[in-house]
Amino acid sequence: MLEKVRPMHTPLLSHPMTHHTPAPLLCKCVSRVRPKLLAVALLWLAAGPVAVWAQTRPAANEPSSVTARLGTPADPQTYIGSDRCWACHRAEVQEFGKTRHSEIGAAKADAVTGCELCHGPGKAHADAEAAAQGDDAKTAAASKLIFSFQGNPKANSDRCLSCHRSTREQSKFDHSAHAQHGVSCNSCHSMHLVEAARAPGATAMGLAQANFFNVPKLPEETRWLHNSQLKKAQPELCFECHTNIQAQFALPTHHRVPEGAMKCTDCHSAHGTSNRANLRQSGWDTCANCHTEKRGPFVFEHSAVKVEGCTACHTPHGSVNRMLLVRKEERFLCLQCHVDPSAVNVPHSRLSFQTRGDCTRCHAAIHGSNFDVNFLH
Ligand code: HEC
Ligand code: HEC
Ligand code: HEC
Ligand code: HEC
Ligand code: HEC
Ligand code: HEC
Ligand code: HEC
Ligand code: HEC
Ligand code: HEC
Ligand code: HEC
Repeated sequence: MLEKVRPMHTPLLSHPMTHHTPAPLLCKCVSRVRPKLLAVALLWLAAGPVAVWAQTRPAANEPSSVTARLGTPADPQTYIGSDRCWACHRAEVQEFGKTRHSEIGAAKADAVTGCELCHGPGKAHADAEAAAQGDDAKTAAASKLIFSFQGNPKANSDRCLSCHRSTREQSKFDHSAHAQHGVSCNSCHSMHLVEAARAPGATAMGLAQANFFNVPKLPEETRWLHNSQLKKAQPELCFECHTNIQAQFALPTHHRVPEGAMKCTDCHSAHGTSNRANLRQSGWDTCANCHTEKRGPFVFEHSAVKVEGCTACHTPHGSVNRMLLVRKEERFLCLQCHVDPSAVNVPHSRLSFQTRGDCTRCHAAIHGSNFDVNFLH
């Protein structure tokens, strides 16, 4: 959602220009050209509100670039094709059929497709299961004859990465905190959500805060199909493991993630980036993507913002302090850096101001100002 922006191409910027084109100019045009211009203008008008409504700066379009390895010829000695699987795994086949992976076509007539793209050759397993005739020990032994994503996390992820490595979003996965701590693709994604097939109408209860806020919920299967095939919706998915972060979002001042108005992945990439804490962008860019007015540049910059970044003064998740400040009393936040050991009443008693209370009573443009070196306005 919050990818790098190429402002030159955004409808948001081109849109006002359409508005301000003086009408007489249009009238002087040859009539043959006018419908064309109008059509373009209408297109812009149609695109404009979408960009405005999204509130964040529009993301650049990035076509998907999954390099599917489809040429592998299926050896008939080991591969049998998806039709055989259907006989015994109807729920998986049914759910899988609704996903993008089922649309991956074969490059050649004899190429591997369907289930065996991920599970590998299935003939040995299918034959052994058929021969097991319900015998528990034999069934269990036959289960071991196919790759079932129960091995080590790296082996699991490598299956997916054999195709997904070429996508920019997933390309850094190997170096992410998640990969390094044994979290694999299938810890977060489900390729055939059979639970949904068993209870089609079911919706998850969700967090108390979300229920209080009444964000509408989709049936689980619909949610899954339109939500990158995630096992659970955010933030429940992330809270499963990051319970300390869940506690932070329960504090009185917080970004409205538990309510469902924002996602963890607005700021983080679950797949890893080269930035601190897997942030989508480096420094304060992640924050400035939504809080655009704090981006500047200002004539008078507050170096605290530009050098230390937003988290010098704010906690990103949640806080007991107003405005997500890292200190309860704002003046002590300022005095962390603005210390004047020689002054009686730091920092500017010499001006004989009463400097109790919040410093931003006077230094109102604390993120940077175009008018005043001391950020007074
Ligand atoms: C003759 C019936 C039959 C056929 C055909 C069959 N399976 Fe299975 N499969 C089973 C049974 C029985 C189990 C074990 C019971 C269970 O866990 O559901 C199983 C288990 C599995 C598992 C889980 C293994 C585990 O360790 O939990 C996977 C993955 C799997 N099958 C994939 C496939 C694929 C892919 C195909 C087609 C290429 C296929 N099966 C064909 C009967 C079959
Ligand atoms: C895109 C990769 C992929 C494809 C294609 C795929 N699976 Fe799976 N399958 C997985 C993963 C990953 C798991 C591990 C459990 C999970 O995450 O849902 C799994 C688990 C299973 C299991 C174990 C029980 C379960 O449901 O969790 C069975 C059975 C199974 N798959 C059958 C199939 C069949 C049949 C097909 C073809 C219709 C198929 N799979 C196609 C990735 C895939
Ligand atoms: C054979 C190559 C291949 C393999 C293996 C593969 N994928 Fe995919 N995957 C694709 C392609 C192609 C698409 C469709 C891309 C598109 O249309 O933009 C896709 C799409 C997806 C999507 C987006 C679905 C959506 O509805 O937007 C997810 C999530 C995904 N794959 C996860 C996985 C996971 C997890 C695994 C491993 C269990 C995996 N893939 C294995 C080729 C593959
Ligand atoms: C920690 C959880 C997590 C792990 C691990 C994870 N993903 Fe994802 N994935 C997500 C979330 C969350 C989204 C949805 C992002 C959004 O909505 O902003 C997503 C989205 C996707 C998409 C859809 C489009 C996109 O690129 O954003 C694909 C494809 C995908 N993941 C593939 C993978 C593959 C392949 C792996 C393993 C190499 C993987 N994921 C590992 C959480 C995870
Ligand atoms: C299966 C458990 C699991 C799930 C689910 C999970 N994580 Fe993680 N995550 C971890 C582990 C383990 C680490 C590494 C240890 C740590 O830093 O806490 C980690 C690390 C991270 C980090 C980096 C911390 C750092 O210091 O670099 C971020 C950010 C993060 N996860 C975000 C998410 C988001 C967002 C989601 C949901 C889309 C998510 N995680 C889902 C287990 C998980
Ligand atoms: C408003 C942006 C934003 C949102 C939304 C957000 N984070 Fe963060 N997160 C950050 C920033 C910035 C840091 C780095 C903090 C620092 O360096 O002091 C961070 C740090 C982290 C860390 C590593 C440091 C730690 O405190 O353990 C994890 C794990 C994490 N976030 C998980 C999550 C999860 C899970 C969610 C969703 C429930 C989430 N974040 C939502 C901005 C955000
Ligand atoms: C996806 C958009 C988005 C991103 C990214 C984002 N914010 Fe916000 N932020 C919001 C929204 C929306 C609100 C208003 C929240 C509300 O009223 O509940 C807000 C409110 C705030 C507030 C005021 C809190 C209050 O009590 O009113 C602060 C401070 C803040 N954000 C700091 C940050 C910082 C620091 C970052 C980067 C780590 C960041 N934001 C990233 C959307 C975002
Ligand atoms: C030097 C400390 C400091 C830094 C660095 C800082 N802020 Fe603030 N911020 C404050 C203070 C203090 C307030 C409360 C202002 C008030 O009470 O009027 C505030 C308030 C806010 C608010 C809510 C009120 C408003 O003005 O909209 C947002 C949003 C915000 N900051 C975002 C950011 C972002 C984004 C960054 C990084 C680009 C950032 N801040 C960096 C000190 C800082
Ligand atoms: C992380 C450290 C840090 C914090 C916290 C901080 N500042 Fe600053 N501030 C600076 C630095 C560094 C400068 C630049 C000093 C210079 O250019 O000599 C600066 C400059 C200023 C200036 C302009 C002074 C000048 O001569 O240019 C004012 C006014 C100011 N800060 C007020 C505040 C207030 C009010 C707060 C609390 C809301 C605050 N600062 C919090 C580091 C900080
Ligand atoms: C009653 C209004 C007021 C309050 C409250 C106030 N300031 Fe100021 N501050 C000013 C004015 C006016 C100036 C400019 C003085 C000048 O032009 O020489 C200033 C100047 C500064 C400067 C620039 C260096 C200097 O001494 O000239 C810093 C740094 C500063 N203030 C920090 C703070 C901090 C930190 C607090 C909170 C503890 C604070 N101020 C509270 C009005 C105020």
